[in-house]
Amino acid sequence: MDIVASDASDAFLNHMTDSGLRPLHIDIMNINDELAGKYGNIITRGVSPMISADLALVRRTYANIRRLLSNRGRLIVLIPRTLPGEFSTIALHHKHNLWVEFREIRHLRLQVFPAPWYNKLPISVAVIVENILGRYCGICDVSILEAE
Ligand SMILES: C[S@@+](CC[C@H](N)C(=O)[O-])C[C@H]1O[C@@H](n2cnc3c(N)ncnc32)[C@H](O)[C@@H]1O
Repeated sequence: MDIVASDASDAFLNHMTDSGLRPLHIDIMNINDELAGKYGNIITRGVSPMISADLALVRRTYANIRRLLSNRGRLIVLIPRTLPGEFSTIALHHKHNLWVEFREIRHLRLQVFPAPWYNKLPISVAVIVENILGRYCGICDVSILEAE
């Protein structure tokens, strides 16, 4: 299975290259036709246009990501919970039906600890903590969407 890391910013691309990855430059607001339908699964976390308070921009972002996915491909969206105002949330995306040509097949709430801790914790401990506490006090929403 090929896994590709991507971003639109040189700083993030350089950081990924320094970490040993070979990232692609993909600007989610300007999708190259060659990439249409190319990916079976896409994972995003906190991508700026998707967490914008401008819901029209968020809707366009979902539509653009849909173009990258093959039929019935899956988009996994991770968005940290924030106070309302500056950013949008998965709850808002759901309420305003911003998921263009997607249906949600699963919604999770998780991440009890700061992200760097998960590199150090035994996986079994992280799984137990997330299963018990994550759903009540996790700081991240995860939505698994299927392209229709
Ligand atoms: C808040 S950072 C999140 C970074 C990382 N995913 C994380 O969760 O720590 C927002 C990210 O969105 C990226 N971004 C902003 N505009 C973008 C665009 N048009 N296409 C692709 N990525 C974009 C930024 O370069 C940055 O990496």
